[in-house]
Amino acid sequence: MCGIVGYVGNRQAFPILIEGLEKLEYRGYDSAGVCILKPGIAYGQTGSFEIVKSEGRVSRLKALAAEKDTSGTCGIAHTRWATHGDPCTANAHPHVSMSGSLAIVHNGIIENYQIIKEQLQKRGYVFMSETDTEVLVQLIDYYYKSNGHELVDAVRRALSRCFGAYAIAVVERENPGHIVVARKASPLVVGIGADTDEFFIASDATPMIEYTHSVVYLDDEQIADVRPGKDIFLTNLGGDKATVTVHEVDVDISMLSKGGYPHFMLKEIFEQPDCLRDCMRGRVILGDKEEDNRIVLSALNQCHDRLVNAKNIIIVACGTSWHAGLIGKQLIEQLCRRRVEVEYASEFRYRNPVIEADDVVIAISQSGETADTLAAIELAKQAGALVFGIVNVVGSSIARESDTGIYIHVGPELGVASTKAFTGQVAVLVMLALALGLELGTLDKKEYCRTITELAAIPDKMKKTLQTNDYIKDLAKIYTYASNSLYLGRGYNYPVALEGALKLKEISYIHAEGYPAAEMKHGPIALVDANMPIVFLATHHQLYQKIISNMREVLARNGRILAIVTEGDDEVKKIARDTIEVPPTLAMLAPLLSVLPLQMLAYHIAVLKGLDVDMPRNLAKSVTVE
Ligand code: M6R
Repeated sequence: MCGIVGYVGNRQAFPILIEGLEKLEYRGYDSAGVCILKPGIAYGQTGSFEIVKSEGRVSRLKALAAEKDTSGTCGIAHTRWATHGDPCTANAHPHVSMSGSLAIVHNGIIENYQIIKEQLQKRGYVFMSETDTEVLVQLIDYYYKSNGHELVDAVRRALSRCFGAYAIAVVERENPGHIVVARKASPLVVGIGADTDEFFIASDATPMIEYTHSVVYLDDEQIADVRPGKDIFLTNLGGDKATVTVHEVDVDISMLSKGGYPHFMLKEIFEQPDCLRDCMRGRVILGDKEEDNRIVLSALNQCHDRLVNAKNIIIVACGTSWHAGLIGKQLIEQLCRRRVEVEYASEFRYRNPVIEADDVVIAISQSGETADTLAAIELAKQAGALVFGIVNVVGSSIARESDTGIYIHVGPELGVASTKAFTGQVAVLVMLALALGLELGTLDKKEYCRTITELAAIPDKMKKTLQTNDYIKDLAKIYTYASNSLYLGRGYNYPVALEGALKLKEISYIHAEGYPAAEMKHGPIALVDANMPIVFLATHHQLYQKIISNMREVLARNGRILAIVTEGDDEVKKIARDTIEVPPTLAMLAPLLSVLPLQMLAYHIAVLKGLDVDMPRNLAKSVTVE
């Protein structure tokens, strides 16, 4: 939620900031703004801020800025997902302190902003926006004025009074050659240019990859002063010096473009065969003979005893990652015979859950920054449980907070609707359940080896499934009329039904519900009429015949059925109005294929409705507020 970019060095800052905002726009797109520092003309003269803000997208900001003098080599910028106040220009960042000395961009929520605001108002501070961010910059300004303009100290004192989450970048008019940044529970990365003569700031590493791969991830409650020609001055909220650890990020710049596709979402859907290969590389090892197949997961060795001895496994996640968690539950229960709970992280964190010290808590997150999942991890740690992260973004907060874990390695996912991260998460859960099942002796070696052979075949089967795209595009024309729909599945395909419904809701704004198919007759069947599309996941697996009975119940009520079926299926074709075929596979691997048509269907319906697929209304990619 909200994207922050900053630059200080010897290049023109504005183009870097704008391109950075474009790359971070997936984090929020209610408004955007930029602040460029203008040094004083003569030596010793105070500089000034050139600030441009606009409602809506970065493209609008860019057009507005074309009429301004945006030259300068230091600046900060922001793209907003509104929390406090409307998405109007007054609430857009950067916010400037009343004295005009400081400008700030902020991601997160200052929970006690109201009380601080009232205190500052009593001291004569006047506010121009409804945001918590303006309160923060005024508070920093208050300390700044009282401590002889020591910005780092003022930031530290102000943040010590704040509860909540923040990633901030602050610049000062009187000293335009540096940026002070800080974070707590919201991500912030500092990129180091060649010979430390320039620095890049951003909410994640994507805006800086073009310029540098050397980055520093700030930890919670750390403050950094970045100044070209000097090493990063890193301290904690207590004022103690902290060690700067430089990481090398391994992201190919081509991964950040649409690569000829009209939308990131479509590109990411089509990348899935390659993503799964990347995800399985070095982990799924095929032997010359099937009996030599194996899964290699270093995370399993790292925490071998705790994983093997865990009585309970709790999976915490949100949204699409939670759906992957539901599949993980079935996999681990089936292959490892361990009790698994799957929890919405947002509920878990406030429910006083029972967590034992010998439990394993698996946190699943694409971004690795979801605030509720992070809070659930904190709770697990307090209880002494082992935290196992399944994360996509390398170096993200959840990855760093986990005791051990597995990266899904599907590359940057920029479309707000999660696609390739879901299949990557499921693939990792399959590998984990297989490896753990063998280790525990709950999985027969033959089944283990056979499943590995099948898993390795999934990328090619995905490729085949994606060939249905043109057919689905045509089919989508029929389904754009709908205002409601049901997605039904059973077993491993039940979470896929939930995921298909979520995809449709979030990008096409059509109301959709996912249900276990047998639950339909306990209520939802009342909704069925000739206008209601019902999507059945009816692949050839366990409960197939029962799904067919559920379909007949819908047919008897004139429901319009679209079914995802296994290649060559004739039975369902007699019942369903439309069918989409996927190649045969094992039941536990079915979600890796059956979700693809649902992703494509949602995509094409949204495109036909003329909607912004990659940036659907009201959403943001990374949910760093609770
Ligand atoms: O980054 P995370 O996986 O932790 O994000 C969780 C959800 O916010 C995310 O899956 C969301 O539901 C997506 N928009 C779904 O497409």
